[in-house]
Amino acid sequence: MHDHLTIVDHPLVQHKLTIMREKETSTAVFRQLLREISLLLAYEVTSELEMTTKRIETPLTEMDAPTLKGRKLALISILRAGNGLLDGMLELIPSARVGFVGLYRDEQTLKPHKYYFKVPEQLDERMVIAVDPMLATGNSSAAAVDMLKEAGAKDIRFLCLLAAPEGVARMKEAHPDVPIVTAALDEKLNELGYIMPGLGDAGDRMFGTK
Ligand code: URA
Repeated sequence: MHDHLTIVDHPLVQHKLTIMREKETSTAVFRQLLREISLLLAYEVTSELEMTTKRIETPLTEMDAPTLKGRKLALISILRAGNGLLDGMLELIPSARVGFVGLYRDEQTLKPHKYYFKVPEQLDERMVIAVDPMLATGNSSAAAVDMLKEAGAKDIRFLCLLAAPEGVARMKEAHPDVPIVTAALDEKLNELGYIMPGLGDAGDRMFGTK
């Protein structure tokens, strides 16, 4: 993955995303579509997994067939909305190890603070995919990646559903080595830090909270 930002401009992804953006879409439909989109995004973000071959027998003959090299994967959910992307990804990659990063924003300093951090062992040997549906200011995403690097991660990718230009720029400045995969790059952030046109608060929409 050589580009810093990859937009998955696939008809199915874009169609599902449009339904998710609509304000009348129910929690149940939103959740189901997020699950489906995460499968499609997972397909893109894992496109560089290393391959090898193994000798197999088909009913007709022997062949050297492609297979995953067995490199370890870690999916890291940035709480709480990251969990919505995680479920679908685990369907596609059931053997992946899973970690969680919990951050809250200090209302005085506006800086992200860690309240939970639990990640798989041997992070340095894994392809690490951090997931959070909304890349808005990029402050918490950059902080989460800092923590993953401190824990040893060397090969990190960031997967989101929607990105704002401000968040992409912040990540590029802080972590130019971390490619971002997203379904769409929206216009801007509003004064409250929401992505515009966006889809609202992703956590609230997937969990039915307000
Ligand atoms: N987080 C969200 O859930 N939505 C936004 O628009 C921005 C950040």
